[in-house]
Amino acid sequence: MENLNVLFVASECTPFAKTGGLGDVVGVLPKYLKKMGYNVKVVIPRYYSIDKNFLDKLPDPLGVPMGIIGELWCGVYRTTLPNSDVEIFFIDYENFFGRKDLYNYEDGTGYIDNDNRFIFLSKASLQLSKRLNFRPDIIHINDWHTSMIPHMLKTYYKHDEHFSDTKVVLTIHNMQYQGVFYSGCMDVLGSWEYYFDYEFNGKVNFLKGGIYLSDMITTVSEGYAREIQTPEFAYGLEGVVRDRSSNLFGILNGVDYDEWDPETDKFIPKNYSINDLSGKNVCKLELQRRFGLPERDVPIFGVISRLVHQKGIDILAEAIYKILSLDIQFVLLGNGEPWAHFFFGKIAYDNPDKFGCFIGYDNKLAHLIEAGSDFFVMPSRFEPCGLNQMYSLKYGTPPIVHAVGGLNDTVDNFDEVSGSGTGFKFYGLNAQNLFNTIGWATYSYYNLKSNLEKLRRNGMEKYFTWDDAAKKYIDVYRMAKGIKGKFS
Ligand code: ADP
Ligand code: GLC
Repeated sequence: MENLNVLFVASECTPFAKTGGLGDVVGVLPKYLKKMGYNVKVVIPRYYSIDKNFLDKLPDPLGVPMGIIGELWCGVYRTTLPNSDVEIFFIDYENFFGRKDLYNYEDGTGYIDNDNRFIFLSKASLQLSKRLNFRPDIIHINDWHTSMIPHMLKTYYKHDEHFSDTKVVLTIHNMQYQGVFYSGCMDVLGSWEYYFDYEFNGKVNFLKGGIYLSDMITTVSEGYAREIQTPEFAYGLEGVVRDRSSNLFGILNGVDYDEWDPETDKFIPKNYSINDLSGKNVCKLELQRRFGLPERDVPIFGVISRLVHQKGIDILAEAIYKILSLDIQFVLLGNGEPWAHFFFGKIAYDNPDKFGCFIGYDNKLAHLIEAGSDFFVMPSRFEPCGLNQMYSLKYGTPPIVHAVGGLNDTVDNFDEVSGSGTGFKFYGLNAQNLFNTIGWATYSYYNLKSNLEKLRRNGMEKYFTWDDAAKKYIDVYRMAKGIKGKFS
């Protein structure tokens, strides 16, 4: 197979910095590309939370031309992705990245200089690839944060030999966040060329330009690839996506089963597998203890989520009083919009025997919830892929999902007569439909035990591998480079 150089640039990467699934993907996909023989390097910012002491520092500082701002100089750190020899580089610039959160102030609004921060990351990654003498065949960019890279290649680096064979592949993980800024940021890019590819109601939309100027575009499920061509899911960019639809592909994310497998999970009190599910009960008891819930045999519904509009948290809030009228328990782990912190905190306070809640980010607890719950709830308004429902399938915790995007693609609805399917789906996002479906699952728990058991096992047998996804990405890279032949 050809030996391509791939530069992966993103705003987060597990286990170094993560706010959601984007970090998970960036932490794993490069390893699989490497396994298939590609040379891959990853670049992300060195956020304040990433401890420099575990990293190697490159000897010389890196100069980053920032248009009207002038040249800024940053440090670069290096290590490898865990259990691999894929190199990851961290752009270290205190003024931009030395902050508590990755993107937002504490009240949830984006940092005022997010345009400059991510123009800087993008430019620095290109400068770094030159410094390392790593000529990328493919630059794989992710979401709006790095969508200015094709602009830079077409302007500042237009005549640069180093990038003469470089193609750009953009992966859209979320269409709602587009990076819309005051158009003066074109001056920081140092060129107003291609402005109209980025222009959006008089402002600059990073993602729009990324979609227009990248060679290939992917998104993280086939369903979402169709949905973002419609106004309901594209947040104003449906026309742009349709214009590029012949170069758009849906590639479902895989699961990192080294991290998410109840048979080997280090974070749960007892491991279990499809052949012996007894450990799942131990996890359930531990979950009840963890949240101070009575140790009774009732179905537990779990949620792990960013508490934001995308995740249908407002719909859950509307339905929760009725949901709690059922003989069930409910646990929620998440953080996000402040109203949701107060709201669910109060629900927990008022219903100590039924509702447990932890506001914050806790990976270990996330594992326990996947293992100890009987059902996993995801009422997302839209979901490009969604990882938690795939994890919950593996943990024998059937997901209850709004049938959109990746949720619709990865979950098959329960047939209560035959026991086929892997979870519970509902169509039309509203509190009544969510309540009805949770009611259906509750009824199944008490009255359809053997078919529910089949459902649980069907889900545990599902396997969403990164091997498959990586092969499909390689097909897309090949298309971008004009190499003949399909790999997947
Ligand atoms: P998104 O990226 O839109 O948030 P995904 O389902 O793709 O949704 O990925 C979410 C990831 O973040 C999962 O790995 C999930 O376990 C994790 N996660 C989300 N919120 C929390 C939290 N509060 N604590 C621990 N893990 C969380
Ligand atoms: C985004 C999406 C989520 C997806 C993740 C990784 O954060 O909201 O659905 O799983 O990216 O691609």
